[in-house]
Amino acid sequence: MSAVRLGIAGLGTVAQGVLEILRDNGAVIAARLGREIVVSRIASRSAKPDVDLGGAQFSTNLSDLLSDDVDIVVELIGTEDTAKTLIEQALANGKPVVTANKAVIARHGNELLSNNGQTPLRFEAAVAGAIPIVQALGESLIANRIESIQGIINGTCNYILTAMQEEGTPFDQALATAQKLGYAEADPTFDIEGIDAAHKLTILLSLAFDHPFDFDALHVEGISRVTTEDIQYANELGYRIKHLGIARRTEAGIEARVHPALVAKSNLLGEVDGVLNAVQVAADAAGTTLFSGPGAGGAATASAVLADVGSIVSHMGEKPQVQAARGTNSQNVLPIDQVRCPHYLRIPTKDEAGVFARVAQALSGHGINIEAVIQKEPSTDVASIVLLTQPVLEQQIRAALDEVQQLPQVAGDIARIRVE
Ligand code: HSE
Repeated sequence: MSAVRLGIAGLGTVAQGVLEILRDNGAVIAARLGREIVVSRIASRSAKPDVDLGGAQFSTNLSDLLSDDVDIVVELIGTEDTAKTLIEQALANGKPVVTANKAVIARHGNELLSNNGQTPLRFEAAVAGAIPIVQALGESLIANRIESIQGIINGTCNYILTAMQEEGTPFDQALATAQKLGYAEADPTFDIEGIDAAHKLTILLSLAFDHPFDFDALHVEGISRVTTEDIQYANELGYRIKHLGIARRTEAGIEARVHPALVAKSNLLGEVDGVLNAVQVAADAAGTTLFSGPGAGGAATASAVLADVGSIVSHMGEKPQVQAARGTNSQNVLPIDQVRCPHYLRIPTKDEAGVFARVAQALSGHGINIEAVIQKEPSTDVASIVLLTQPVLEQQIRAALDEVQQLPQVAGDIARIRVE
């Protein structure tokens, strides 16, 4: 049979990964699919003379990918609006699309997936790099009601937190290394402020709970306020600090939030370090499953891109399967104020008698029970009270901390991190 011809948009680390995998493993892939996969065209803003294009025709015009010599469009450019337009045009031209673009799916997935009619649009590479979590939730776990998802889904954040934990590396230096290794987004604030993870959680939430893609409903926090001091105290209390995406079905509604969290060292997620991602899924029939692997980087993400290509090729000529349930769940995403969880608090205080009693009294006045405490001797004239609370409603802890922060005994900004 004739080869399947890819038209790739973009020539960054992931696109180069696709070219390399096809060069190294092309024969194996062809044997498995019964068809050779070739790259016929590449379109990108600028040429990269050092990159071996393997005979593909290069152009700076994305619309060249709509030509007759392209069977599948592979969108790897990253920019949201340009990518969305290309995907729409390709689908309108009857060309299946594979994208790694989480922003486009999280923000425009409802529209793109409902309008694509008979033409596949696949996005395995958009979430957690090499881990086949989109297929797992969309197909492998289809017989289950999913109860919760907890994931380390941003490789850059995990890389930075691990370097801060293990080497004491300063935040900026760890971020620069992640950028050099090709893990970070073009705008790294998307990584460190949690936006990239929120795009991915939006997709996981939709797949797991048949919920419409609803990026704006998520609560999003990044890691820029996590300090090495908090990482050390968490360690003393038996925890790691990880940046998590959490989606959970509760009676009141669905929780969907992205933020740093303390995870017990005994929890498998606490052991997932460096650029590794992991997604833990609790489901009623299957039980709890854990998917782990590289969450960023050219070759790892390209592996997921080519998985989608392979799936499209395997089903070519068949009537496309439409997931009828997608987007039909009208259960609300809960506002963060209504989420209940334990908290880690670090309260800088003056080094005086009776300070702990005063803080404990203020917390207890808001119905907050303390689970564990460590009191740190002052390094200068400021001491630290570090404590874990029992589960507490978000609005309750906010009100309590507003009061504690105003106490004359408190000598600096209080740090607060949720505990999973
Ligand atoms: N910047 C992303 C990360 C790349 O660090 O996880 C993969 O989506």
